[in-house]
Amino acid sequence: MKTKLTEMLGIKYPIVCGGMMRLAYPPLCAAISNAGGLGNLTAAMYKDKKDFTAAIRQVRELTDKPFMVNVTLLPSIGIDNKQYHAYFEACAEEKITVMEIAGAPLNRFEDGVWFKLLKDAGVKIFHKVGSVRHGKHAAKAGYDGVIAAGVEEGGHPLNENVATTVLTPRMAEEVDVPVITAGGMVNGRSLAAALCLGADGILMATRFVATKECQVHEKVYQELINRQENDTVLYGNSIGLQGRALMNESIAKVLEIEARGGGLEEILPHISGIYGDDIWREGKMDTGLIPVGQSIGLIHEVLTCKELLDGMVAEAKEIMTRNCALFD
Ligand SMILES: Cc1cc2nc3c(=O)[nH]c(=O)nc-3n(C[C@H](O)[C@H](O)[C@H](O)COP(=O)(O)O)c2cc1C
Repeated sequence: MKTKLTEMLGIKYPIVCGGMMRLAYPPLCAAISNAGGLGNLTAAMYKDKKDFTAAIRQVRELTDKPFMVNVTLLPSIGIDNKQYHAYFEACAEEKITVMEIAGAPLNRFEDGVWFKLLKDAGVKIFHKVGSVRHGKHAAKAGYDGVIAAGVEEGGHPLNENVATTVLTPRMAEEVDVPVITAGGMVNGRSLAAALCLGADGILMATRFVATKECQVHEKVYQELINRQENDTVLYGNSIGLQGRALMNESIAKVLEIEARGGGLEEILPHISGIYGDDIWREGKMDTGLIPVGQSIGLIHEVLTCKELLDGMVAEAKEIMTRNCALFD
């Protein structure tokens, strides 16, 4: 496949993995890149520059293909500026191919010195945004591309709640840099649809959890297959950081607290990371925050990354060809 994205990054398929706290470790990252997509290494999982640099080098031992680093610039996730400096320095020194910046714009962080340093080092920078306004700002500020994340996505969709089907073509109308669409992307149909909507590639996260190389507990795989598109909810508007997560005891409690006007202190214990490894490694899915997207309804099997990506591209090609024939 050839799109503006595959050409810019030197990848086989325009299929990217989004940042995934507690999951986007080197083995999964490398497996996705080896399968022709763009794997993701999520910086926030590493405490300092030494640890993070070691992780980058581990990915490089497992693949010689490009991969992406996610840095989520949100003070509320408990990372201090020293840690951010460590991530940016490591990315520049290791000449990472491309970064996914989520949250605050990097070009405004500390007067843009890190943005400039990374650009000068030849690192491409994409900003994940939920609105055309933010996408236009990113393109004007010199980002190499934007990730247009619709309200269907897991993680933290912007509270403007614009769906992927509208956000993608609007973004493509307004910016002249490559657009990667995110939120609800899961199979060959999604890939074909995204290209038709004007995207140059797609980003998925929830779907990559259901791959063999993600190495989550068997119960997690079963839950991803069993739960449906209406099993996720939006929470967190009352504390100024909207999120989408799988409905369970903890999220039901959060919604109840928010409905009666309870504050951050009451909400935090239910959504803090303390349950993280119990969820993914032990399969305890009833408690804690499980950030998944509506795309969970379209996950029917656990595949290797190669099976997933090859299958998606073949399906997209078949759909595009069949639909072209409708015009004969
Ligand atoms: C388990 C999980 C963890 C995530 N962690 C992060 C993160 O640390 N930083 C970030 O920018 N996005 C994070 N996200 C959001 C994804 O990168 C991506 O934007 C979103 O999930 C795409 O929607 P999809 O899940 O429907 O594919 C996470 C998503 C999931 C499913």
